[in-house]
Amino acid sequence: MEHLLDLERYPLHRPESPEYEKLVEQCRADLSSDGMFNLSGFFRPGIAQQAADAAKPAMDTVSFRHARKHNVYFKDDMPGIDDAHPAMIKSQTVNHTLCADQLEGNPVIDVYEWLPFADFLAATMGKEKLYQMDDPMARVNVQATRDGEGLNWHFDRSEFTTTILLQAPKVGGELEYRKDLRTPDDQNYEGVAAVLAGKDPKIKRIMPLPGALNVFRGVNTPHRVVPVQGDTERVIAIFSFYETPGVIFSAEEQIGFYGRSVS
Ligand SMILES: [Fe+2]
Repeated sequence: MEHLLDLERYPLHRPESPEYEKLVEQCRADLSSDGMFNLSGFFRPGIAQQAADAAKPAMDTVSFRHARKHNVYFKDDMPGIDDAHPAMIKSQTVNHTLCADQLEGNPVIDVYEWLPFADFLAATMGKEKLYQMDDPMARVNVQATRDGEGLNWHFDRSEFTTTILLQAPKVGGELEYRKDLRTPDDQNYEGVAAVLAGKDPKIKRIMPLPGALNVFRGVNTPHRVVPVQGDTERVIAIFSFYETPGVIFSAEEQIGFYGRSVS
């Protein structure tokens, strides 16, 4: 694994060491203060681009073009408001997805299957254990966002999102987010409307570097990917872990996410 990951800087292979403990502590502190942590240079130099280049032939030919109109909730009804409320505005999101079964031999699969990676993520998230999925498609995805495309404002449905940017576009592609806009008890619909209108001064914008590991807590923090401009695609790897072993999506879920089923 040391040819892919900078294990001197990020000693995931030495969970008993004080350096590991310090790293986990820093990640937990960042998650709590910023809603995310970023480990730049997690991939060794060149590996992110190598992974993006390796994915490109399949991306150009067999990726699933996923286009949908959605609101921040991915839901048609929300308690206490109707369709006309500004928080319910739907926008179009488009991306191009490759699934794990289309990424054979790609470094992102090797990293996903390396058990210390899951153990490290679990430690940073305060989970007892995280398991790889058994789903042949969902385990790892590589998504490309092309000229004019972006990911619209939304709340995540899973607690954490784990990604590594493989290739940055020349213009656009930043992550914008508004930390802790809602709580489990308060949907803050007016706050959501303000974010959608671009009128919340607490919106922040970051551009992760290719090869950085990013863990993001997006359940109550709405976020979006700013539309990409130009010929260089934004390419990102997304890693899925669960607190129970052996998770497989149903055929319906697979078709909803990927346009095909392999179960
Ligand atoms: Fe998200």
